[in-house]
Amino acid sequence: MKIVVIQGPNLNMLGVREQNIYGPMKLEQIHAQMKDVATQNGVEIEFFQSNLEGEMVDKIQECYGEANGIIINAAAYTHTSIAIRDAITAVNLPTIEVHISNIHRREEFRKDNMIAPVCTSSVVGFGPFGYHLAMMGMLQIMSEMKAAQEMQAEQASGEAK
Ligand code: DQA
Repeated sequence: MKIVVIQGPNLNMLGVREQNIYGPMKLEQIHAQMKDVATQNGVEIEFFQSNLEGEMVDKIQECYGEANGIIINAAAYTHTSIAIRDAITAVNLPTIEVHISNIHRREEFRKDNMIAPVCTSSVVGFGPFGYHLAMMGMLQIMSEMKAAQEMQAEQASGEAK
């Protein structure tokens, strides 16, 4: 099982940008914690950050046939990007979106969300801990997927007999 974590624009500036909103943690620290959890659970994990919308679309497309789930913080593109939304729909993988801040309590323009309606779930407003919650959610989804696959395989082998 493989999870791909996709981080959008300016998230490479975590620890520097607006610490009153996003806190002092750097993206590398968040990823190190996620990697630990993945390792403990025997799951592969890959991290990707880009400030460019098209690169994010390319990465989501690459997940097709390669990954079992996506954790994404599309950052500012959350509020504008139909292209990222369409890519998430196209690959049809379990996808959890994360927002460090509570986007519902901020400026009006952050209430528009192109991504949430096509995601499995959203984690919003928990600070960097939201990524850990997303990992927990994704591991749960994956164990359910695995159990369903095993059941299907059992049924198929039963029918073949
Ligand atoms: C963000 C919220 C977005 O509105 C903002 O543009 C970001 C970060 C968050 O994680 O809280 O860059 O996605």
